[in-house]
Amino acid sequence: MLEINRKAAARFGINPDIIEKRVDVRRNIEVLGNDLTFIGVREAARTKHVHRLHPYLGKFIPQLVEVFLTKYFKQGDTILDPFSGSGTTLVEANVLGMNSIGIELSPFNVLIQRVKLQKYDLPEVEREIKDAINRLRDFSRNKINRMRLETESEYLKEWFSGRALQEILYYRSIIKDYRNQDVLKVILSRSARSARLIPHYDLARPSKPVRETYWCIKHKRYCKPAGEALKFINRYSLDTIKRLKEFDGIRTDAFVDIYQGDARTCKLPGDKKIDGIFTSPPYVGVIDYHEQHRYAYELFGFPRFDALEIGAASRGHSRDVRREYMQGIIDVFQNVSPNLKQGSLVFVVANDKFDLFPEIGRRCGFKLFDVFHRPVLMRTERDSKKYFESIFCFRKEA
Ligand SMILES: C[S@@+](CC[C@H](N)C(=O)[O-])C[C@H]1O[C@@H](n2cnc3c(N)ncnc32)[C@H](O)[C@@H]1O
Repeated sequence: MLEINRKAAARFGINPDIIEKRVDVRRNIEVLGNDLTFIGVREAARTKHVHRLHPYLGKFIPQLVEVFLTKYFKQGDTILDPFSGSGTTLVEANVLGMNSIGIELSPFNVLIQRVKLQKYDLPEVEREIKDAINRLRDFSRNKINRMRLETESEYLKEWFSGRALQEILYYRSIIKDYRNQDVLKVILSRSARSARLIPHYDLARPSKPVRETYWCIKHKRYCKPAGEALKFINRYSLDTIKRLKEFDGIRTDAFVDIYQGDARTCKLPGDKKIDGIFTSPPYVGVIDYHEQHRYAYELFGFPRFDALEIGAASRGHSRDVRREYMQGIIDVFQNVSPNLKQGSLVFVVANDKFDLFPEIGRRCGFKLFDVFHRPVLMRTERDSKKYFESIFCFRKEA
């Protein structure tokens, strides 16, 4: 293991022997120049610039993308991510001067990607964000004298305190007054996520609203559920300005094309030739990707395409579901295959506990030329676990 990671492992109480038993770290270093543990990569670097514009369960660490894109591709290449999620591949490709194409089913995830990757008039964005927060502050101070804002969403009424809901509804009502509406939507959604009536330790998958003081296993003390949204909107407004500026300082002019749709059927223009894929598909029966951002769907009324999600958690992982899942992933690769140059490389990151990906590759006409393994060690929030994932490396055959 790299020395920096060995030291970090000791700090976090992680036994390097357990990792080295499951992962050939020496080979990772020989081939990739990195042991792929990323234990020593600090939280601030894992979530650098736009990668933390909005939480998203199931994104991969940007440093992993960087290692593979740097090793196997060059500036000017075009990289596709057919499950582009929150846009990690697209952002990292752009920083390296590589063009990128993303396909993503969930309209809210597409919004996150677009906000991360758009080129902005930054002084205007800053002015608008600050103006919106000033108006919200005025509203919040004087709201007692104002009419109550109403919503028909039972979900919003249930999951927010009265004050938080008023602030959220007010902010939503003024978004139309600005040019950078998508940025404001991401700020509001991120704030709403934090302002829900949930325990601090359960932001990712809360089961029911909490209205009373509760024992917080994260802070080891009694905590109160959030009573307002203003402080979050204020905090995330400033944070968003900072992150957009940081990314603007390192972004390149490489093109980024984002498509909302089902990657099994979404047609890419015939003239878009792709040098390779770097992706982490949804895994079978693990996450419901629309449902994790329910608050955003309720707030903005985006259409939902849950029934088209490949591998949705709600459908479990029975034998039939696994078979259907495999066919879904094969359909995706076959759909984009006409755009893949001959010999192009396809990297798939997955915790493949049902051993599906070697067979998926075979059925797509991809030759498996290598597999790397890595531990996924540092996670936040309650459902964090240690697990191992693989990076399957395929080449598209003639
Ligand atoms: C593991 S996540 C990708 C995360 C991404 N690597 C990142 O860092 O943000 C898988 C994504 O596939 C999307 N997805 C599920 N079914 C899909 C389909 N039929 N077509 C396109 N995208 C789909 C999910 O909405 C989810 O965002």
